[in-house]
Amino acid sequence: MLHTPFFDPKKTYKENWEEGPFGDFADGIVLEEKEPAFEFLGQKISYPLGIPAGPLLNGKFVDAALDKGWSVPVHKTVRSKTHPCNDWPNVLALKDFPGDLSIERAKEPLVVIPEYSEPLSITNSFGNPSYEPEVWMQDLRNSIAHAKAGQLVMCSFEGTKREGMSTEEYIADWANGMKMIADTGVKIVEANFSCPNEGAATLLCFDVPKVKTVVTAIKEKIGAVPLVIKIAYFGEAELRELVTEVGGIVDGFSAINTIPAPVVNEDGTQALPGAHRVKSGICGHAVKWAGVDMVRRLKALREELGMSYGIIGSGGVTVPEDFKEYRDAGADVVMSATGAMWNGYLAKEIKERYPSGY
Ligand SMILES: Cc1cc2nc3c(=O)[nH]c(=O)nc-3n(C[C@H](O)[C@H](O)[C@H](O)COP(=O)(O)O)c2cc1C
Repeated sequence: MLHTPFFDPKKTYKENWEEGPFGDFADGIVLEEKEPAFEFLGQKISYPLGIPAGPLLNGKFVDAALDKGWSVPVHKTVRSKTHPCNDWPNVLALKDFPGDLSIERAKEPLVVIPEYSEPLSITNSFGNPSYEPEVWMQDLRNSIAHAKAGQLVMCSFEGTKREGMSTEEYIADWANGMKMIADTGVKIVEANFSCPNEGAATLLCFDVPKVKTVVTAIKEKIGAVPLVIKIAYFGEAELRELVTEVGGIVDGFSAINTIPAPVVNEDGTQALPGAHRVKSGICGHAVKWAGVDMVRRLKALREELGMSYGIIGSGGVTVPEDFKEYRDAGADVVMSATGAMWNGYLAKEIKERYPSGY
C-alpha cells in the first residue's frame, strides 16, 4: 500500500527542502537499530539496506531515514557550488505501465501523470541541484552525529563543467568536491557518473577513459576513503570494459541509476518544461530487472577478474521480496529510492521479513 510520500511531488524542490520530510518521515517515531552484524567496505553496518542518492535532500531527510532504520542513507548528490533545480514538476508517475521497461521500449515515449499507483514506477528530473557547500557540509556532520552504531551516512557528489573551465579544472572540481565530503567525516563517498537529467548527450560513466582519469584524480585526493561510483545500465561488453579499467581503482559500484526515456502527457505533448527535458530518468518497479541484472554481472565479473569491489544494488525495490532478489543476485547493500519515498516503513518490513539479512 502506498503511504503519503516523504518527498511531496506536488511541491517544488525548494518547498520540500524547507518544509519536508513529510508522511512517515515526519511521524516522530524512532525505531531501534539492530546490532552491527555486517561489513561494507570496512565499515560495520547493522543491516545491508539504504536509500540511494536522491530523495534525501538535506540533513532533516537523512536523519528521518536513519530514525526509520535505513542503515545506509545516501545524501542527495551535491556540487561544489550552488546549482539550480529543474523547473517543477520534478516527479510524475508512469501511466498504465505494470511491466519491465526494456532499453528498446525506453526509446519510445511513456505517458506520465500526477497520480501514483502500484506497481510504482515514476520519472524524476531535478538536474542535480545543490545548495551551498557550507550548508551541506554542516548537514552531513550533524547527520553523522545523529547516526546510531551500525548506521553509515554516505553522500554523493557530481563535478560541474562551468563556463570557461579547462578539462583539468573540471577534474579538479570532482576531486576537491569529493574531498570536501570526506572532510565532514563521511566514511564512504559516492561519485555520480550517471545523471541522465542534465541534457548531456552521453553519460560520463560510458566514457571509460574519462571515468578512469576522474577516479584516479579523486583517489589521489581522498586517500584511503572508499570511493563508490554510481553507474547506469550497461551492455555486456561495455560493463566488462569499465570494470576491467576501473574495478581495481574504485572501491565499489552502485547500480543502477534511472533509465532515460521520452516522457509525454496523455495528449502526447512534452511532459516536463525545458528543451533539455524531452527525456527523463525512469525509476521504480519498471527498472528492477535492469538493477538486478547489473548486480549479477558485477558479481560475476568480480569473481572472474579476481577483484574485491563492493556492490550496491538499486532500482525498483518497492516490496520486501525485491530486497531478497537483489541479495540473491549478489548485492552487498540494497537500496530503495522510489519504494522508500512512498513507504518509509519499508526498511522495517524488510528487516522483519528477512531478519538475517539474506
Ligand atoms: C526523487 C529522486 C531523486 C533522485 N536523485 C538522484 C541524485 O541526486 N543522484 C543520483 O545518483 N541518483 C538519483 N536518483 C536515482 C536513485 O538513486 C536510484 O538510482 C534510482 O531511482 C533507482 O532506484 P529506485 O527504483 O529505487 O528509485 C534519484 C531518484 C529519485 C526517485
